Amino acid sequence: MENVYFYEMEEWYSETHKTWNKVAQRYEEKFMDLELYNDSYQRFCDELSRPDASLLEIGCGPGNITRQLLKRNPKLNILATDVSKNMIDLAKKNNPGIEVQVLDGRNLKSIKNKFDGIISGFTIPYLSKSDSQKLLRDCTRLLNEEGVLYLSFVDGDYGQSGFVSGSSGDRTYFYYHQLETIKQTLEENNMNTVEVFKKAYQRSDENAEWHTILILKKI
Ligand SMILES: C[S@@+](CC[C@H](N)C(=O)[O-])C[C@H]1O[C@@H](n2cnc3c(N)ncnc32)[C@H](O)[C@@H]1O
Repeated sequence: MENVYFYEMEEWYSETHKTWNKVAQRYEEKFMDLELYNDSYQRFCDELSRPDASLLEIGCGPGNITRQLLKRNPKLNILATDVSKNMIDLAKKNNPGIEVQVLDGRNLKSIKNKFDGIISGFTIPYLSKSDSQKLLRDCTRLLNEEGVLYLSFVDGDYGQSGFVSGSSGDRTYFYYHQLETIKQTLEENNMNTVEVFKKAYQRSDENAEWHTILILKKI
């Protein structure tokens, strides 16, 4: 894993992004109304310092989290971003009042303004360790004081990362990240941990996996 060539990793990214664009509609059908994480969305909203908070979402998918947040607080000002154009179109269809932008989470430097909250649901599983670390540092830079960060991922051994295939046979490159490493990077960048959620997600009849959700606040 450490010796992967840059161009090889770029090919993994390219395949992964194409897959997400292709499966956008199916992802919407399956996950738009999932209730498993609702208490974590509520906690994120409770931590925001203002009712009309400005939020940046990274890897918004079809706008499933966006919709849950707006349901809890319709005054939120949300810029939802994703690398997939099809996901962005669905996010806008499902949340007509939001701003949207096609954006790779590796290129957050193009965003100039700051936010009261940043939410990134299951997007770092599609970023390498160094790109995730960069995203975390970018997030802390883009947050106002007392800004809140919501991150979800699968806590595991980075060395086990690799391609996974969905029911259609299309592949994504899936990266495991370690909770302690992520917490450490963020705490070194002036973020305090507010709460860690662990959710058992039943992938199939035989397979369950633990999903980790981390909520932090900028000091
Ligand atoms: C598992 S889905 C999560 C969707 C939604 N946030 C949720 O939690 O249900 C992963 C999303 O990350 C997006 N994504 C993958 N790599 C990305 C990247 N480099 N930059 C931005 N979005 C990315 C995919 O297009 C997809 O919409």
